[in-house]
Amino acid sequence: MTIGIARHVRSKLKLIACEAAELPIVRLVAEPLYRRAFQRPFQEGNAYYGVFDSYDQARAEVPTSLSPTYDVAGAGNMYTDRIDRIRVSDYPMVYWLSRLVQAGQRRIFDLGGHIGISYYGFRRHVQYPEDLRWLVHDVPAVTAAGRERARELDPEQRLSFTDSREAADGHDVLVCSGALQYLDYTLSELLGRLTTPPQHILVNLTPMHPTRSYFTIQNMGVAACPYRVMAVPEFVGAVESLGYTVVDRWESLERDLRIPFFASYSIDRYYGFYFRLDHAGSSTRMNEPVDTSCKKVNRAA
Ligand SMILES: C[S@@+](CC[C@H](N)C(=O)[O-])C[C@H]1O[C@@H](n2cnc3c(N)ncnc32)[C@H](O)[C@@H]1O
Repeated sequence: MTIGIARHVRSKLKLIACEAAELPIVRLVAEPLYRRAFQRPFQEGNAYYGVFDSYDQARAEVPTSLSPTYDVAGAGNMYTDRIDRIRVSDYPMVYWLSRLVQAGQRRIFDLGGHIGISYYGFRRHVQYPEDLRWLVHDVPAVTAAGRERARELDPEQRLSFTDSREAADGHDVLVCSGALQYLDYTLSELLGRLTTPPQHILVNLTPMHPTRSYFTIQNMGVAACPYRVMAVPEFVGAVESLGYTVVDRWESLERDLRIPFFASYSIDRYYGFYFRLDHAGSSTRMNEPVDTSCKKVNRAA
């Protein structure tokens, strides 16, 4: 059996197990078994456990055998395959970032930007001007690895790192790809604390549910972290309440989230947004939005 077929069979089995687990009798037996299996690092992608009301509740349920944060040595070595390539779901980000850079935006703040994965991957597609500056905020173990890698990979020295999320203050564009879900604060809470919040916000690959906000725990091997899923209307409403408007939104169908024993909390896509703060006298007005999305969402949805 080839590795590909073996993987396919395993993922089918996982799906069947997820669905069978919804039956009350099966659940009685399967849940403690699953909880026990969840205590080990999950090596084939991600596994999820439980539904919780708060970050702290989820964190209290992380197995003591696993790190509850990304702030571990191995985290800086993840995703390195993306230094030289982007994913299908990155294209809306690349599109909007290109337009913003062309329109004169120069200071990019990358929330949860890892070792600068997006900075490196996007530079094959976005022409970075000499004076572009890209600041990554991430956990200390990852920013340390990022500074080390940048010595070799960023001779132009556009990329830098900070341990302070408030360093977002005064930046032109905040980008955040696949990271909001790990934070113990929301995007709107961060933006609300800034004196000069970024005018442009590009959010990508964020797990959201049509109606429910909750936390689960994601076991990704190097760690098992509290994982936030927000209801789409709550997320959008909170950012809009700060004066931003949605310029574009898209859905990425290549990511989903299945939580055994909690079928109604599962999601079959991740979300992306471009928000713009239209304060008076703004110098950068982009044209009307163009359909750049992997799959366009009805604005009223
Ligand atoms: C799935 S990775 C996404 C990385 C990158 N943005 C990308 O596009 O692939 C999640 C990132 O969030 C970071 N992260 C997790 N907890 C964080 C925190 N409390 N503050 C800042 N970054 C955090 C992780 O270290 C990791 O780099």
